[in-house]
Amino acid sequence: MKNTILLPYMAPRNVTALAKEKFDAFISDREMTADEIVLLALEKNPQGMIVVPKQKITQDIIAKLPASVKVIATCSVGFDHLDIAAAKARGIQLTNTPDVLTECTADIAMLLLLNACRRGREYQEIMDAGWRKSFSQSEMLGIKVSGKTLGIYGMGRIGQAVADRARGFGMKIIYCNRRRLSPELEKGATYFAKLEEMLPHCQILSLNAPGTAETKHVINDQTLALLPDNAVLVNVARGSLVQEEALIRALQSKKLFAAGLDVFENEPAYDLRLKEFHNVFLTPHMGSATQETRDAMGFRALENIEQALKGVKPQDSLWS
Ligand code: DGY
Repeated sequence: MKNTILLPYMAPRNVTALAKEKFDAFISDREMTADEIVLLALEKNPQGMIVVPKQKITQDIIAKLPASVKVIATCSVGFDHLDIAAAKARGIQLTNTPDVLTECTADIAMLLLLNACRRGREYQEIMDAGWRKSFSQSEMLGIKVSGKTLGIYGMGRIGQAVADRARGFGMKIIYCNRRRLSPELEKGATYFAKLEEMLPHCQILSLNAPGTAETKHVINDQTLALLPDNAVLVNVARGSLVQEEALIRALQSKKLFAAGLDVFENEPAYDLRLKEFHNVFLTPHMGSATQETRDAMGFRALENIEQALKGVKPQDSLWS
Protein backbone atom coordinates (compact mmCIF):
# COMPACT_ATOMS: atom_id res chain seq x y z
CA MET A 1 0.00 0.00 0.00
CA LYS A 2 1.24 3.48 -0.85
CA ASN A 3 2.07 5.99 1.87
CA THR A 4 -0.17 9.06 2.05
CA ILE A 5 1.37 12.51 1.66
CA LEU A 6 0.02 16.05 1.48
CA LEU A 7 1.12 18.76 -0.94
CA PRO A 8 -0.88 21.65 0.54
CA TYR A 9 0.28 24.24 -1.99
CA MET A 10 0.17 24.72 -5.76
CA ALA A 11 2.94 22.35 -6.84
CA PRO A 12 4.29 22.31 -10.42
CA ARG A 13 2.66 19.76 -12.75
CA ASN A 14 5.72 17.51 -12.99
CA VAL A 15 5.98 17.38 -9.21
CA THR A 16 2.33 16.49 -8.71
CA ALA A 17 2.66 13.76 -11.37
CA LEU A 18 5.63 12.19 -9.57
CA ALA A 19 3.95 12.56 -6.19
CA LYS A 20 0.88 10.68 -7.49
CA GLU A 21 3.06 7.94 -9.00
CA LYS A 22 4.93 7.29 -5.78
CA PHE A 23 2.36 8.08 -3.10
CA ASP A 24 -1.27 8.37 -2.33
CA ALA A 25 -0.93 12.14 -2.68
CA PHE A 26 -3.43 14.81 -1.71
CA ILE A 27 -2.63 17.90 -3.74
CA SER A 28 -4.11 21.30 -3.03
CA ASP A 29 -4.78 23.84 -5.77
CA ARG A 30 -3.83 26.74 -3.47
CA GLU A 31 -1.42 27.50 -0.68
CA MET A 32 -3.12 26.38 2.51
CA THR A 33 -2.48 28.05 5.86
CA ALA A 34 -0.71 26.09 8.59
CA ASP A 35 -4.02 25.74 10.49
CA GLU A 36 -5.71 24.35 7.39
CA ILE A 37 -2.84 21.88 6.97
CA VAL A 38 -3.47 20.62 10.51
CA LEU A 39 -7.18 20.05 9.76
CA LEU A 40 -6.35 18.25 6.52
CA ALA A 41 -3.71 16.13 8.25
CA LEU A 42 -6.20 15.13 10.97
CA GLU A 43 -8.59 14.03 8.23
CA LYS A 44 -6.08 12.17 5.99
CA ASN A 45 -3.55 10.90 8.56
CA PRO A 46 -0.61 11.26 6.15
CA GLN A 47 2.87 9.88 6.72
CA GLY A 48 4.50 12.89 5.11
CA MET A 49 3.92 16.34 3.70
CA ILE A 50 5.67 19.00 1.65
CA VAL A 51 5.40 22.60 2.78
CA VAL A 52 6.60 25.95 1.43
CA PRO A 53 8.19 28.89 3.31
CA LYS A 54 5.01 30.87 3.92
CA GLN A 55 3.54 27.93 5.83
CA LYS A 56 4.95 28.45 9.32
CA ILE A 57 5.33 25.08 11.00
CA THR A 58 5.61 26.23 14.59
CA GLN A 59 5.75 24.24 17.81
CA ASP A 60 2.01 24.76 18.20
CA ILE A 61 1.25 23.43 14.70
CA ILE A 62 3.56 20.44 15.20
CA ALA A 63 1.82 19.58 18.48
CA LYS A 64 -1.54 19.42 16.65
CA LEU A 65 -0.42 17.09 13.83
CA PRO A 66 -1.59 13.48 13.97
CA ALA A 67 0.89 10.80 15.08
CA SER A 68 0.91 9.40 11.53
CA VAL A 69 3.19 12.25 10.33
CA LYS A 70 6.81 11.05 10.13
CA VAL A 71 8.37 13.63 7.80
CA ILE A 72 7.86 17.23 6.71
CA ALA A 73 9.84 18.31 3.66
CA THR A 74 10.08 22.01 2.95
CA CYS A 75 10.36 22.98 -0.68
CA SER A 76 13.03 25.61 0.04
CA VAL A 77 16.62 25.81 1.14
CA GLY A 78 15.65 28.22 3.94
CA PHE A 79 14.05 26.67 7.01
CA ASP A 80 13.40 29.62 9.29
CA HIS A 81 9.67 28.78 9.08
CA LEU A 82 10.16 25.36 10.74
CA ASP A 83 10.59 24.59 14.43
CA ILE A 84 13.27 21.92 14.17
CA ALA A 85 13.51 21.22 17.91
CA ALA A 86 9.74 20.71 18.26
CA ALA A 87 9.62 18.38 15.25
CA LYS A 88 12.60 16.37 16.45
CA ALA A 89 11.04 16.04 19.91
CA ARG A 90 8.02 14.39 18.23
CA GLY A 91 10.25 12.23 16.01
CA ILE A 92 9.20 14.06 12.83
CA GLN A 93 12.00 14.30 10.27
CA LEU A 94 12.44 17.70 8.62
CA THR A 95 14.22 18.24 5.32
CA ASN A 96 14.97 21.11 2.94
CA THR A 97 16.07 21.34 -0.72
CA PRO A 98 19.64 22.66 -0.94
CA ASP A 99 21.84 22.64 -4.08
CA VAL A 100 19.09 22.52 -6.70
CA LEU A 101 18.20 26.22 -6.36
CA THR A 102 21.71 27.61 -5.98
CA GLU A 103 22.19 28.79 -9.55
CA CYS A 104 18.79 30.38 -10.05
CA THR A 105 18.96 32.22 -6.75
CA ALA A 106 22.44 33.52 -7.61
CA ASP A 107 21.05 34.62 -11.00
CA ILE A 108 18.37 36.69 -9.25
CA ALA A 109 21.07 38.28 -7.08
CA MET A 110 22.86 39.35 -10.28
CA LEU A 111 19.59 40.56 -11.80
CA LEU A 112 19.02 42.76 -8.74
CA LEU A 113 22.66 43.88 -8.63
CA LEU A 114 22.72 44.92 -12.28
CA ASN A 115 19.34 46.61 -12.15
CA ALA A 116 20.26 48.51 -8.98
CA CYS A 117 23.65 49.64 -10.32
CA ARG A 118 22.43 50.41 -13.84
CA ARG A 119 19.12 52.04 -12.88
CA GLY A 120 17.02 49.32 -14.51
CA ARG A 121 13.80 50.40 -12.88
CA GLU A 122 14.15 54.06 -13.89
CA TYR A 123 15.03 53.15 -17.47
CA GLN A 124 11.99 50.89 -17.62
CA GLU A 125 9.83 53.72 -16.27
CA ILE A 126 11.20 56.09 -18.92
CA MET A 127 10.44 53.62 -21.69
CA ASP A 128 6.99 52.86 -20.25
CA ALA A 129 6.27 56.61 -20.34
CA GLY A 130 7.09 56.71 -24.06
CA TRP A 131 10.70 58.18 -23.97
CA ARG A 132 10.43 61.25 -26.16
CA LYS A 133 13.34 63.35 -24.78
CA SER A 134 16.90 62.07 -25.22
CA PHE A 135 19.37 62.31 -22.36
CA SER A 136 22.60 64.29 -22.29
CA GLN A 137 25.94 62.56 -21.60
CA SER A 138 25.66 63.44 -17.94
CA GLU A 139 22.10 62.40 -17.17
CA MET A 140 20.67 59.16 -15.78
CA LEU A 141 24.06 57.62 -15.14
CA GLY A 142 24.49 54.40 -13.23
CA ILE A 143 27.39 52.73 -11.48
CA LYS A 144 29.94 50.71 -13.45
CA VAL A 145 29.97 47.17 -12.10
CA SER A 146 33.33 45.96 -13.49
CA GLY A 147 36.16 46.72 -11.12
CA LYS A 148 33.87 47.24 -8.12
CA THR A 149 34.31 45.38 -4.84
CA LEU A 150 31.45 43.06 -4.01
CA GLY A 151 31.11 42.07 -0.36
CA ILE A 152 29.22 38.83 0.20
CA TYR A 153 27.73 38.22 3.64
CA GLY A 154 27.19 34.46 3.87
CA MET A 155 29.50 32.46 1.62
CA GLY A 156 27.57 29.18 1.46
CA ARG A 157 26.49 27.58 -1.79
CA ILE A 158 24.49 30.59 -3.01
CA GLY A 159 27.09 33.15 -1.89
CA GLN A 160 29.77 31.23 -3.78
CA ALA A 161 27.59 31.07 -6.90
CA VAL A 162 27.06 34.85 -6.70
CA ALA A 163 30.84 35.26 -6.39
CA ASP A 164 31.42 33.10 -9.48
CA ARG A 165 29.01 35.20 -11.50
CA ALA A 166 30.41 38.49 -10.21
CA ARG A 167 33.96 37.41 -11.11
CA GLY A 168 32.67 37.04 -14.67
CA PHE A 169 31.67 40.70 -14.48
CA GLY A 170 35.20 41.68 -13.41
CA MET A 171 34.31 42.37 -9.78
CA LYS A 172 36.65 41.93 -6.83
CA ILE A 173 35.20 39.57 -4.21
CA ILE A 174 35.44 39.94 -0.44
CA TYR A 175 33.33 37.93 1.97
CA CYS A 176 32.27 37.45 5.55
CA ASN A 177 31.31 34.00 6.75
CA ARG A 178 31.26 32.11 10.04
CA ARG A 179 34.35 30.26 8.88
CA ARG A 180 36.95 30.85 6.23
CA LEU A 181 36.59 28.76 3.08
CA SER A 182 39.33 26.50 1.68
CA PRO A 183 41.51 28.14 -1.01
CA GLU A 184 39.74 26.06 -3.73
CA LEU A 185 36.37 27.49 -2.73
CA GLU A 186 37.67 30.94 -1.85
CA LYS A 187 39.16 31.40 -5.34
CA GLY A 188 41.19 34.43 -4.28
CA ALA A 189 38.38 36.22 -2.39
CA THR A 190 39.42 38.12 0.73
CA TYR A 191 37.99 36.83 4.01
CA PHE A 192 36.69 38.99 6.85
CA ALA A 193 35.70 37.31 10.10
CA LYS A 194 33.61 40.33 11.14
CA LEU A 195 30.91 42.01 9.08
CA GLU A 196 31.79 45.41 10.58
CA GLU A 197 35.32 45.07 9.24
CA MET A 198 34.19 44.12 5.74
CA LEU A 199 31.50 46.79 5.28
CA PRO A 200 33.76 49.83 4.71
CA HIS A 201 35.21 47.98 1.67
CA CYS A 202 31.87 46.99 0.09
CA GLN A 203 30.90 49.13 -2.87
CA ILE A 204 28.19 46.56 -3.39
CA LEU A 205 26.93 44.30 -0.59
CA SER A 206 25.11 41.04 -1.31
CA LEU A 207 23.30 39.27 1.54
CA ASN A 208 23.38 35.50 1.23
CA ALA A 209 23.20 34.22 4.80
CA PRO A 210 20.28 32.22 6.22
CA GLY A 211 17.60 33.86 8.34
CA THR A 212 18.50 32.95 11.92
CA ALA A 213 18.49 34.61 15.34
CA GLU A 214 22.16 35.43 14.75
CA THR A 215 21.59 37.16 11.39
CA LYS A 216 18.41 39.04 12.35
CA HIS A 217 18.81 42.77 11.58
CA VAL A 218 22.55 42.50 10.89
CA ILE A 219 21.88 45.35 8.47
CA ASN A 220 20.78 48.25 10.66
CA ASP A 221 21.58 51.95 11.16
CA GLN A 222 25.02 51.20 12.59
CA THR A 223 26.12 48.71 9.93
CA LEU A 224 24.66 50.75 7.03
CA ALA A 225 26.70 53.73 8.26
CA LEU A 226 29.86 51.66 7.82
CA LEU A 227 29.30 51.21 4.08
CA PRO A 228 31.03 53.63 1.73
CA ASP A 229 28.80 56.43 0.42
CA ASN A 230 26.86 55.43 -2.70
CA ALA A 231 26.99 51.73 -1.89
CA VAL A 232 24.44 49.30 -3.31
CA LEU A 233 22.62 46.68 -1.23
CA VAL A 234 21.31 43.41 -2.68
CA ASN A 235 19.23 40.93 -0.66
CA VAL A 236 18.08 37.53 -1.93
CA ALA A 237 18.49 35.82 1.44
CA ARG A 238 15.82 36.65 3.99
CA GLY A 239 14.06 39.90 4.82
CA SER A 240 14.87 39.37 8.49
CA LEU A 241 18.54 40.22 7.86
CA VAL A 242 17.64 43.85 7.16
CA GLN A 243 15.99 46.26 9.54
CA GLU A 244 13.79 47.87 6.91
CA GLU A 245 13.25 51.12 8.84
CA ALA A 246 17.03 51.61 8.80
CA LEU A 247 17.19 50.75 5.10
CA ILE A 248 14.49 53.31 4.34
CA ARG A 249 16.48 55.93 6.28
CA ALA A 250 19.63 55.05 4.31
CA LEU A 251 17.70 55.44 1.05
CA GLN A 252 16.14 58.72 2.15
CA SER A 253 19.51 60.18 3.15
CA LYS A 254 21.03 58.88 -0.14
CA LYS A 255 23.69 57.02 1.79
CA LEU A 256 22.89 54.18 -0.61
CA PHE A 257 22.98 54.68 -4.37
CA ALA A 258 20.41 51.92 -4.83
CA ALA A 259 19.11 48.61 -3.59
CA GLY A 260 17.85 45.38 -5.13
CA LEU A 261 15.52 43.35 -2.94
CA ASP A 262 13.85 39.98 -3.45
CA VAL A 263 12.96 39.41 0.21
CA PHE A 264 11.28 41.55 2.87
CA GLU A 265 10.60 41.65 6.58
CA ASN A 266 6.89 41.05 5.97
CA GLU A 267 5.96 38.96 2.99
CA PRO A 268 3.89 39.28 0.96
CA ALA A 269 2.69 42.47 2.70
CA TYR A 270 5.99 44.29 2.16
CA ASP A 271 6.54 47.89 3.27
CA LEU A 272 5.07 49.93 0.40
CA ARG A 273 7.37 52.87 1.16
CA LEU A 274 10.09 50.85 -0.57
CA LYS A 275 8.39 51.11 -3.94
CA GLU A 276 8.45 54.92 -3.74
CA PHE A 277 12.22 54.85 -4.25
CA HIS A 278 12.87 54.66 -7.99
CA ASN A 279 16.41 53.46 -7.27
CA VAL A 280 15.10 50.35 -5.56
CA PHE A 281 14.56 47.34 -7.79
CA LEU A 282 12.07 44.92 -6.28
CA THR A 283 11.10 41.33 -7.01
CA PRO A 284 8.52 39.24 -5.08
CA HIS A 285 10.71 36.51 -3.49
CA MET A 286 11.40 34.75 -6.78
CA GLY A 287 14.97 33.49 -6.31
CA SER A 288 14.16 29.89 -7.18
CA ALA A 289 11.27 30.63 -9.52
CA THR A 290 12.18 28.85 -12.74
CA GLN A 291 10.37 25.87 -14.15
CA GLU A 292 13.47 23.69 -13.92
CA THR A 293 14.35 24.67 -10.38
CA ARG A 294 10.85 24.39 -8.96
CA ASP A 295 10.58 20.91 -10.49
CA ALA A 296 13.98 19.96 -9.04
CA MET A 297 12.97 21.27 -5.60
CA GLY A 298 9.75 19.27 -5.63
CA PHE A 299 11.56 16.11 -6.79
CA ARG A 300 14.16 16.57 -4.06
CA ALA A 301 11.45 17.00 -1.43
CA LEU A 302 9.76 13.79 -2.64
CA GLU A 303 13.09 11.93 -2.49
CA ASN A 304 13.57 13.11 1.08
CA ILE A 305 10.10 11.89 2.02
CA GLU A 306 10.74 8.51 0.40
CA GLN A 307 14.02 8.12 2.27
CA ALA A 308 12.49 9.09 5.61
CA LEU A 309 9.57 6.68 5.15
CA LYS A 310 12.00 3.86 4.35
CA GLY A 311 13.59 4.53 7.73
CA VAL A 312 16.77 5.99 6.23
CA LYS A 313 18.07 9.38 7.38
CA PRO A 314 17.06 11.66 4.49
CA GLN A 315 19.88 13.25 2.49
CA ASP A 316 18.70 16.73 3.50
CA SER A 317 17.73 16.04 7.09
CA LEU A 318 17.64 19.18 9.24
CA TRP A 319 18.00 17.20 12.43
CA SER A 320 21.36 17.97 13.96
C1 DGY B 1 14.38 29.26 -0.30
O1 DGY B 1 14.45 28.19 -0.90
O2 DGY B 1 14.62 29.38 0.89
C2 DGY B 1 13.98 30.43 -1.13
O3 DGY B 1 13.97 31.59 -0.42
C3 DGY B 1 12.65 30.16 -1.76
O4 DGY B 1 11.65 30.27 -0.84
